Amino acid sequence: MNSPIQNLLVVGTGTMGGGIAQVAAAVGATVFLYDLVPGAAVKARQRIEDSLRRAETKGYVTATVRERTLKGLRPIECMDEARGVAVVVEAVREELSVKQAVFQELEKKTQPETSLWTNTSMISITEIARPMRHPERLVGVHFFNPVPRMELVEIIAGERTSEATLVTAEASVRHWGKTPVRAPDRPGFIVNRLLDALLREALALHEEGVSHMEIDTAVRLGLNFPMGPMELMDLVGLDTIQDCLKSQAAGMKRPVDCGTDLPRLVAEGKFGKKSGEGFYTYET
Ligand code: CAA
Repeated sequence: MNSPIQNLLVVGTGTMGGGIAQVAAAVGATVFLYDLVPGAAVKARQRIEDSLRRAETKGYVTATVRERTLKGLRPIECMDEARGVAVVVEAVREELSVKQAVFQELEKKTQPETSLWTNTSMISITEIARPMRHPERLVGVHFFNPVPRMELVEIIAGERTSEATLVTAEASVRHWGKTPVRAPDRPGFIVNRLLDALLREALALHEEGVSHMEIDTAVRLGLNFPMGPMELMDLVGLDTIQDCLKSQAAGMKRPVDCGTDLPRLVAEGKFGKKSGEGFYTYET
């Protein structure tokens, strides 16, 4: 790739979509934000603005970067407004059929040379691409939460992904200040395969009566992790974690093992930090 990506479309403006939009806009790209839910893209821009203000107060970003980022973020209500973009990043729900439907629509609504990225954290790129007419355009580009802070991006080739698509993705995320690592198209890729084991054991310990605070303190101090598994689940979102554990189990062809605490909290609408309560309670 000779020049950095000038414009992209982010489909799905939740935590991950918003974070990806933020890091791309921070280096001067125009980022269209689109979400199926009316008004969600505008709300995402507002969330990013609030987060940037906090980041500026902490000295992580300058006023210039904050202003440049906000200038580049364009919420749209109709995907057609972003027809000419170089890249589309999909960050919708972790469900194979949902992602497949999004990419079938994107194939029709974008130019043939547009790269299509999926930010899936678990689902096979080959499977997402299966109904596509041009699967060589699709690549897995997996960011980590919180996107502005996490340096790693896993780059995953499906069976039919072209080398050009891979190279564009790697060069782009490098330009955004990230470090790409090529990961295999296996369930969980690298990081989430390892994380899956940690989280399942943490949930099992919790059900055996060990408190979430004890688990987190033990992992932070005993393994030097920046945060423990229970607070990490709250940060990522318990609904997302549940989807990930189910998807990983399906991919590895073993029974789902989420325990009972996690499904109960999700059923009660306690999704972690974003809803104000999960294993911990948060001030809104
Ligand atoms: N530009 C813009 N914003 C920045 C920034 C930058 N350069 N640097 C930091 N920020 C923002 C953050 O986005 C965050 O914003 P909010 O106020 O909106 O929350 C805020 O500053 C917090 O950052 P701090 O650095 O002040 O916070 P901290 O020092 O307490 O560290 C942490 C918090 C980064 C989350 C740290 O505890 C950590 O690294 N935890 C582990 C995170 C982790 O493991 N993530 C992977 C999750 S798994 C995953 O994502 C995979 C999946 O598919 C499910």
